[in-house]
Amino acid sequence: MHALGIDIGGTGIKAAPVDLAAGTLLAERKRIDTPHPAVPDAVADVIHQLTTAFDWSGPIGITFPGVVAGGETRTAANLDSSWIGTNARALLGKAAGGPVEILNDADAAGIAEMAFGAGKGVTGTVLMLTFGTGIGSALFTDGKLVSNTEFGHIQIHGDDAEKRVSDQARELHDLSWGKWAGRVQNYLEYMEALLSPDLIIIGGGVSKKADKFLPLLEGIRAEIVPAALRNDAGIVGAAMATTPAYAAK
Ligand code: BGC
Repeated sequence: MHALGIDIGGTGIKAAPVDLAAGTLLAERKRIDTPHPAVPDAVADVIHQLTTAFDWSGPIGITFPGVVAGGETRTAANLDSSWIGTNARALLGKAAGGPVEILNDADAAGIAEMAFGAGKGVTGTVLMLTFGTGIGSALFTDGKLVSNTEFGHIQIHGDDAEKRVSDQARELHDLSWGKWAGRVQNYLEYMEALLSPDLIIIGGGVSKKADKFLPLLEGIRAEIVPAALRNDAGIVGAAMATTPAYAAK
């Protein structure tokens, strides 16, 4: 069973066909820069280009960096605000030339990590956090996703956590790894106080550089591990969303 996974991010839109049994990419992924402004029609055009580039006619799953419920995009912190209230399932389905499933990007990455990566077989409470343009979150209890958690937006020092702790914030403020790790630690302590997770999976682009900051974190009870699927988790999770086990309500 194969499905095309498409991951809409703040800087790039990436796609690849996925082997759903193995959780692996069947071909090298293709990437197109996210248009600016990232308005719905411009992004839909990129979805059209990607599905055409793979000459794809099978199932398609798409991630979105905001809350998605019933196919509607409800927030868009790092994309154009005209996404709010858009029927993304209909718009992107039309662009793709067939039905699509659409879900939050961190939820998708979490689903993939739980099935094939760092969370495989783990019961209890698992918190996946993706550090990229923003901070995404996916919460699992005994393997079941609690969809659309938005823990990147909890308030720390009077500001959205992602404004201080995302990988973009690290780059924007030119923070050293040590200084940024301090902010991550502070954030994880807060999340731990709220959720007491058994496992925290760190994903997003920065997970490639986990050795630069994970060893600097101290005093968190939960086990903290980098995502195993790295940057492919979103694409794999998007594709998995097309299967009956995950298809949107
Ligand atoms: C959005 C989340 C998203 C995260 C990562 C946040 O700003 O609110 O829905 O998962 O960024 O893209």
